[in-house]
Amino acid sequence: MDYFKINGPKTLGGSVPVSGAKNAALPLIAMTILAQAPVTITNLPHVVDIKTLLKLLHNLGADFTLEGNSVTIDTCCLGNTKATYDIVKTMRASILVLGPLLARFGHCEVSLPGGCAIGQRPIDLHLKALEQMGAQISIHAGYVRAEAPDGLHGAHILFDKITVTGTANVVMAAALAKGKTVITNAAREPEVVQLCEVLNNSGVAMEGIGSSELTVYGTDRRRLAIKPFAVIPDRIEAGTYLCAAAITRSPVTLTRVRPDHLEAVLGKLEEMGVSIDTTDSTITLRPSETLKPVDITTQEYPAFPTDMQAQFLALCTQAEGTSTIEERLFENRFMHVSELQRLGADITLKGSTATVKGPSPLYGADVMATDLRASSALVLAALAAEGETDIHRIYHLDRGYEALEKKFGKIGADIARLSE
Ligand code: EPZ
Repeated sequence: MDYFKINGPKTLGGSVPVSGAKNAALPLIAMTILAQAPVTITNLPHVVDIKTLLKLLHNLGADFTLEGNSVTIDTCCLGNTKATYDIVKTMRASILVLGPLLARFGHCEVSLPGGCAIGQRPIDLHLKALEQMGAQISIHAGYVRAEAPDGLHGAHILFDKITVTGTANVVMAAALAKGKTVITNAAREPEVVQLCEVLNNSGVAMEGIGSSELTVYGTDRRRLAIKPFAVIPDRIEAGTYLCAAAITRSPVTLTRVRPDHLEAVLGKLEEMGVSIDTTDSTITLRPSETLKPVDITTQEYPAFPTDMQAQFLALCTQAEGTSTIEERLFENRFMHVSELQRLGADITLKGSTATVKGPSPLYGADVMATDLRASSALVLAALAAEGETDIHRIYHLDRGYEALEKKFGKIGADIARLSE
């Protein structure tokens, strides 16, 4: 099993190209189930979650050819509509095939994804919405069985909670449904916006893209001609590298990035004292010797993203004063705390709020990755810690960060991927 060996502290410098967004690519790959011809996707990140979903589509009968960071997916001969446990258990976002399979074939079986390290992660809102669109849904032996023999019809969906993949599933189902679907309390994340834009460019009339009130006019099961498109840049990868620059007091520029997708994150970094300059596709961070403490509450886009909570927790260990970080979306997203404490961080947890006292000198140690974003927080702390840190179980990182050790190595980090 691979692990990272990181020696710190090191000042970094230079520029980092941001990869395509995993959380945009996943629904966009599932969306190809709705296509009438092969679809070419560029700026695809080479991360494990993407490989997993491509493997799932292949198991369903689709073909794909990967060339560099591009993939052409042909789902014309897709015939199997059962997404089995062996794959779904490794990546809960596989649930994103539910809406498109049901919309195209009128039936499918998808293994229940189960929880994950950060929380129970239910899919009740996905299922309730599809039932409102005419699906009969039942659960058998760990599988969601969905039937809509006469096709899906439009409905007015009011989500009790804002759900990113729930919104994506309903948008994809609505694209081929009969009639109009209105989604109230829709997710507004850039990844959902891109899915809507690609569908809209492929003949699915839509209103309210990017707002919490989304209207989709279905094509009544006429499959879509989807033009080639590039995946948007990964705002969470970008935020992670900015936190690395801030915690190591390093001047770093990100390229191929969308600063407009990171307003809440850039605002918090500036509140901590760093300087940020942006163009349409770059972000330059100029570090500050002293970092100010901040108070953060994670919420849905465009507020501060939960996927940046762990990274800021690591950064706040170096702020001069007391910071508080409240996690409002997931019930168990503080597993990085105990690992950061092993490195010397002064963090106390009370319910869903972490209180961080800084600055705490950090010292290298053996630590364990527990989930994707928690792992990236350990990398940030290790870059600033005195001495050698071994981060074990970095398969969590490989799910969502493309060539992380290469990108950090290029800007001067002392980081090596080894096997144990
Ligand atoms: C997406 O997960 C992202 N994953 C997550 O990123 C991200 O943390 C999350 O959105 C929130 O932004 C992908 O896009 C593949 P939700 P998702 O449905 O869609 C509750 C990462 O690190 N809920 O928006 O599964 C749920 O429990 C990952 O890249 C229900 O109660 O999240 C949570 O409290 C981690 N019932 C809240 O809603 C449902 O049916 C938000 O979940 C669905 C969700």
